[in-house]
Amino acid sequence: MSTATLSTAAPYLIEQDYSAYTEEQHSVWAELVRRVLPELRRHAAREYLEGFEIIGLQEDRLPELAAVSARLAPRTGWNSTPVSGFLPAPAFFEMLASRRFPTTTWLRSRESLEYTPEPDIFHDVFGHVPMHAHPVFADFLERYGRVCAAIADAGVLEKLGRLFWYTVEFGVIRQEGETKVYGSGLISSHGECLNVVEGHCAIHDFLLDEVLATRVKVDELHKLLFAVRSFDEIYEAMHEAERRALRGCL
Ligand SMILES: [Fe+2]
Repeated sequence: MSTATLSTAAPYLIEQDYSAYTEEQHSVWAELVRRVLPELRRHAAREYLEGFEIIGLQEDRLPELAAVSARLAPRTGWNSTPVSGFLPAPAFFEMLASRRFPTTTWLRSRESLEYTPEPDIFHDVFGHVPMHAHPVFADFLERYGRVCAAIADAGVLEKLGRLFWYTVEFGVIRQEGETKVYGSGLISSHGECLNVVEGHCAIHDFLLDEVLATRVKVDELHKLLFAVRSFDEIYEAMHEAERRALRGCL
């Protein structure tokens, strides 16, 4: 799908100047990967790890978004599209609805390996993009964008934002009797991931009502997250949320 189909998001689209990355930046990427990958090999959802291989992420070099998208496109039609930074909600939803994941191209410095106030290419590509190779997750994310793009009510969007937060950003899944992480905020943060796998965070079964009623807190490690048993559950939850939004009872 061409970027010509984007209107609201158009001002935020940029090119990734891959040759401009320095050896220091490639080295920071390698350090970020080295910090989390051993934990993820044990504690990430198998769909995340499969996606990591499918999109051809390298452990010691920053990813070239065009190459990532070329590997993703035949699987699910998703594309990792470079953007200038954090997008306003309408532009963000428009991109998701057209299977284009807004992807930042800057990388945090060596002094802030654990935390950045805004997403960078490590959070966006390492954290998010592998899951876009999974067909059900891919369909869910497009649907999420489509539904949100058609809603103007801020209260409804806040509720739907919680669904996004507790799946795409901080989702966990039960596999082989264990809690595995798949949300990008868990995947791309050593501290958040350990908080879950070391048992410091309560894990409830994923029930839409409780997810929608649980406020998002961005300034502390999570004390409660929600585990699905399969990705079909988040797809079905999206459709239920959409039905409720259409009836005005979300
Ligand atoms: Fe994110």
